[in-house]
Amino acid sequence: MTEAFHYKGGELYCESIPVSKIAQKVGTPCYIYSQDHFVRQVQAIKDAFRDVQPLVCYAVKSNSNLGLLRAMALAGAGFDTVSKGEIYRALRAGAEPGKIVFAGVGKQAEEIEYALEQGILMFNVESESELELISKIAARRKVEAPIALRINPDVDPQTHKYISTGKSENKFGIDLKRAEDCLKRIRELKNLRLKGIHIHIGSQILKNDRHGEAIDRVLPFIERCKKMDFPLEYLNVGGGYGIAYDVGQGVDITEFAKVMLPKIQQSGLKMVSEPGRFISGNGGVMLTQVIYVKKSAEKDFLIVDGAMNDLIRPTIYQAFHKIWPVKQQGLKDGSVMGADSPLTDANLGKDAQTYDVVGPICESGDYFALGRKLPKMAEGELVAVFSAGAYGATMASNYNTRGRGAEVIVNGHDYWVARDRETVEDLIRGERLTPREVFKG
Ligand SMILES: Cc1ncc(COP(=O)(O)O)c(C=O)c1O
Repeated sequence: MTEAFHYKGGELYCESIPVSKIAQKVGTPCYIYSQDHFVRQVQAIKDAFRDVQPLVCYAVKSNSNLGLLRAMALAGAGFDTVSKGEIYRALRAGAEPGKIVFAGVGKQAEEIEYALEQGILMFNVESESELELISKIAARRKVEAPIALRINPDVDPQTHKYISTGKSENKFGIDLKRAEDCLKRIRELKNLRLKGIHIHIGSQILKNDRHGEAIDRVLPFIERCKKMDFPLEYLNVGGGYGIAYDVGQGVDITEFAKVMLPKIQQSGLKMVSEPGRFISGNGGVMLTQVIYVKKSAEKDFLIVDGAMNDLIRPTIYQAFHKIWPVKQQGLKDGSVMGADSPLTDANLGKDAQTYDVVGPICESGDYFALGRKLPKMAEGELVAVFSAGAYGATMASNYNTRGRGAEVIVNGHDYWVARDRETVEDLIRGERLTPREVFKG
């Protein structure tokens, strides 16, 4: 099957639209998303785990564009949130409150109040102190708070250390020993309803047995909860399914399902999963334009108009993103990450060059690729940075007083601007040249 992003006639398309056409309309840098990819990936998870009819709660943090959230809500997805703001976004996009889960190690009283008021499915509780606070607020509101305990199973997800969350040294979740004490406390506190057990061990996991090992670690605890008559209904297995950032990478979701399904069935609980990157990652590209080609004594630089404020993953995770010109004469047709991908060394062309692809920001860490062999490029050319749909726009900032780029959703033969490019006026909103009010110290 042709992927959303593919080359045809030497040009990059998103679904049925040449992306150069979008750049002409909205300028660069910009994010371009395929709505179909997002919806299809939700369905792929439902299909892979169909034996247990999972509730797929899309992780809003990976890409929180309202237009995309709406498309997923219409496709029946639930949402995994980590702040009041994300709950608000999901609801604005049409989410059913009863399909929203709320995780995070630092939930504040105001956020807990809001989530209770909206009637979310569950809080994923990450500490004893949080149990106490949720209970106090629920008691005041005279309601029973639905909770899941987030267990830290001490499993190595074998991923980048910044996105590893399931090892004992990580700040997330409650270790199994302390979780036993939590059960006693939940018993004493009358207004908590323990509905689930939650695990999320990390992100961009490419080994298909890591989730299975984590589930194995919590199965005995689930049995204990049941024996103690807690009304458990859900096993939330988290997200973290890895994707292809380069041709030939990635794991088929059915490979994860093969390992996980028997263990989920053994638990006797309904499955919830919280994938983010798997749904959004290859659903987006960042489009940028070459401003200058600069030669130094040692290197050739492509200085592009996108920067680390637009996409920070290479800088903070040393992440690899496939990069390729949007147009290349004679390039064969094929999907960007597919088995038929034309983006291989064999197709670099006879004048291939090695470049550092860098942005205009005043930091040497402002780069998208270092020492990357690419087809020869010229000033003014459009360049696509692939697999930018996850943790791209949501991690963007205004560093160097740069407005965040437009976000565009492609839907078949049409596209629309789902987020306007920020203007300088947008950036200084809320700032003052002189005091509006002066307070005595
Ligand atoms: C609790 C929780 N669930 C789900 C996710 C989504 O992870 P991914 O995008 O790797 O699927 C995250 C990401 O950090 C998370 O912290």
